[in-house]
Amino acid sequence: MSNAPAEEIPTEEIDLAAANHIIDKYLTLPGNLMPVLQGIQDEYGYVPKPAIDLVAERLNVYPSQIFGVLTFYAQFHLKPRGRFIIRVCVGTACHVQGAERIVETFFDKVGIGHAETTPDLRYTFEKVACLGACGMAPLAMVNDDTFGKMTVQKVEEIIAEYNQRPMK
Ligand code: FES
Repeated sequence: MSNAPAEEIPTEEIDLAAANHIIDKYLTLPGNLMPVLQGIQDEYGYVPKPAIDLVAERLNVYPSQIFGVLTFYAQFHLKPRGRFIIRVCVGTACHVQGAERIVETFFDKVGIGHAETTPDLRYTFEKVACLGACGMAPLAMVNDDTFGKMTVQKVEEIIAEYNQRPMK
């Protein structure tokens, strides 16, 4: 059963046409739940609650079963995510090199904490485990861009730059 409290899941109005189209594509295939949920996440950037209800109805599965899948796999998100996903490594090498200071500076600059998204949907912030480039510790990423040997000043430069970037 889900470990995501229902009240935390947005129930906004969304256009379900794309979700219906994805379900159509996989409807008759066995094992279709995962590809349908992945397709919906690719389309919307997360899996909206109304889409979960739609999938349950059309694939004839219990919503609790769908929540079980969504909460088991880290790849799925139940809330809208930011245009820019900031990740700061807090693995051992990065920790030793001052990752916590980097995390706190991002918190200050962006105004959100771990696993939070800014109200304007520009940023989502996540602390993550070792990103596999410990020689460049402390390490941060924004989407697919990697920033090594992070300093407080670099955080400020990164935020200044990404604040200028278009949202689409
Ligand atoms: S501990 Fe940060 S990249 Fe390995």
